[in-house]
Amino acid sequence: MNFKKMTICTVSASAIAASALAHGGATGIVKERMDAMSIMGDGIKQLVPMMQGKTEYSAATVKAVAAEIEKHAGETLVALFPEGSGGGSSVAKSEIWQNWSEFSEMAARLATVSKGMGLAADNGLMAMPKKNAAMMGGSSAMGTAPMMDSLSLEELAEMPVNAVFTKVSQTCSVCHSKFRTKK
Ligand code: HEC
Repeated sequence: MNFKKMTICTVSASAIAASALAHGGATGIVKERMDAMSIMGDGIKQLVPMMQGKTEYSAATVKAVAAEIEKHAGETLVALFPEGSGGGSSVAKSEIWQNWSEFSEMAARLATVSKGMGLAADNGLMAMPKKNAAMMGGSSAMGTAPMMDSLSLEELAEMPVNAVFTKVSQTCSVCHSKFRTKK
């Protein structure tokens, strides 16, 4: 057995352990934004089975998650992306700083739709046939990137909560597909 090879194996095993703990070894503002994104991700994951009617619906949980996402959206989100903070362990694309106004608009849109989800929480779920669900989701076909809509806060507040949830998760994916590289 080659001694050098053994050392390399040991090193890479500990590197894997470290990355599992700290998002690929990210530090500073990059770690901060990954943590903020993860909080939102956990919130979304928590709501998925509820929105699908697989677990009991709780308006209080929806309101709490909506408030959490809203808190991390808009100005708070963009403040975690100072110019030049890409590269290294970050998977943020440099297009963020080339298309800053579009990036900020998506962050602002997330604040609006998450706030709308909180307001719609008491409307409860509407069982939608697949066809209508796709229409309300606003994406024209499977596989194409969903477009951002321009529904107002008042309009969102009147919608079934699962339809607004779709808007929230689409806002996440629209930004990711444009401004985040695949890991
Ligand atoms: C305005 C753009 C934008 C919006 C909106 C957005 N994200 Fe992100 N997200 C990013 C970018 C860019 C990264 C990559 C950050 C990096 O690697 O530096 C990211 C990374 C992530 C990550 C990975 C974090 C890690 O540990 O590496 C998760 C999870 C995530 N986002 C969840 C969400 C969820 C859930 C939403 C919606 C509720 C959302 N994001 C909304 C831009 C966005």
